[in-house]
Formats: sequence, C-alpha cells, structure tokens
Amino acid sequence: MTNPLRLGVNIDHVATIRNARGGDHPDPVRAAEIVARVGGDGITAHLREDRRHIRDDDLRRIQEATDLPLNLEMAATEEMLEIALAHKPHAACIVPEKREERTTEGGLDAAGQHNTLAPIVWKLKDNGIRVSLFIEADERQLDAALKLGVPVVEFHTGEYAHAHLDGDGDKLARELKRISDMAALAAKNGIEPHAGHGLTYENVQPIAAIPQIAELNIGHYLVGEAVFVGLESAVRHMRELMDEAR
Ligand code: PXP
Repeated sequence: MTNPLRLGVNIDHVATIRNARGGDHPDPVRAAEIVARVGGDGITAHLREDRRHIRDDDLRRIQEATDLPLNLEMAATEEMLEIALAHKPHAACIVPEKREERTTEGGLDAAGQHNTLAPIVWKLKDNGIRVSLFIEADERQLDAALKLGVPVVEFHTGEYAHAHLDGDGDKLARELKRISDMAALAAKNGIEPHAGHGLTYENVQPIAAIPQIAELNIGHYLVGEAVFVGLESAVRHMRELMDEAR
C-alpha cells in the first residue's frame, strides 16, 4: 500500500561528506539502499551545476541500485534538461540555483520565468517525467505553476523552518497557514502538493498534518541525525577491529 504521505529522502549530503575527501566513501548509493530497505518512498538528489555533492555518475548508480522512484532536483538549464532526459528519473523537481548559495534559499520564480520554464517542463513531461516546481507557497507562483501545466508543486518550507528556529510563534503560524492554504488550493486545482527544506524532528509534524500534502523531501537533518544514531556502532566496530589485531 502506498503511504498517503510519502517520505523522499534527499541523500545529497552523504555525497557532500564523500566529496570532502575525494574518494568513494560514504557512497550515496549505499544510503539509497538503506532508505529502500527501511521503507522510504523515494530518493531525492540534486545534481548541482558545480557538482558539489551528487555527481553525474551517482544518478546512474542510484537508479541501478534501487527500485525506489528517483526525484531529480535540477536547475532549469539546457545541461540539466539533457541529463534528465538521458536518465529519465521518475520525477524532476525544478529548483532555482545560484552558485554562491549554500543551499536552495528560496522558491523558483515560476511567475517571472514562464518562458524559460515552459519548454523545459514540456520536454520533461513529453518524456514521461513527473515535473514539479519548487515554489514559495504563494498564490502568484501557484497560478504560474497551473499555467505551466505541472502535475506537482513542492512548497519551500525554509521560512517556516527559520521561524521555528527563531522561536517566532507569530511568523510560524503565518508560515504554516500560508503553506496549508496553498496546499488546499493546489489540490483543488488538481496539482499534487509536496513540501520540503529545513524539516526536522521538531518541526515536521504540523507540515505532515496538512492533509493535501502528499510527499515530504527531507535531507540535511536526516543525514546529520544519522551521524549520531550511527556513530556509536561505528566507533565500537573500529574498537573491535583494533582489539582483534593485538
Ligand atoms: N526539497 C528541495 C526541492 C530541495 O532543494 C531540498 C534541499 O536540497 C530539500 C527538499 C531538502 O531540504 P533539507 O536538506 O533542508 O531537508
């Protein structure tokens, strides 16, 4: 049975750690296999223009290693379009991308970029790829998504996550209402709403409770938590190996 609220695990930051040493450990493919084994619903990976985490070859290896649907996050460029068409992931989420940003800091300006996005959306859809736009939860952007004919939007929860971190209750309530209202409006118009960015154990539940939201994509926090959940057994195992050697 498909879960009514899917969890897509973004494995980019496993690759960030790998790339810090330039070798092949830790391999994001192994992370994807674990996600599949424990009942994650999808793998999300962002192939950035500068390849700072996921690399081209990772996409192929992830697709070969698991049957989970791959959600490729991509900038709206010719280069990324070609890569998406070559790999044919289950879904492609078009995200804004600036080289200098540390992460995807805001939603895509779908309203201002209609003419750039339209041919890309069209080609992806024509190749059977489920297209999503990573937008702010606002009516103008949702309207633009409707005009572009995408089946899915992913609402950027960054401002919501910041409000939670800052302990700003008024802003948190405003952000939650904005996401919840836009999720309802998207669903009413036949667009499947997803959400993601900055979600943690502490802030996920109010977003997960929004009934129309069908998928959450979560990455940085999960990879960070995995360090703490896993470090104990990793240190113990190293200790055992060292002890055995004496
Ligand atoms: N969804 C999209 C479209 C993203 O760009 C990102 C960040 O790469 C995420 C979800 C996951 O955000 P986080 O890593 O903060 O959980």
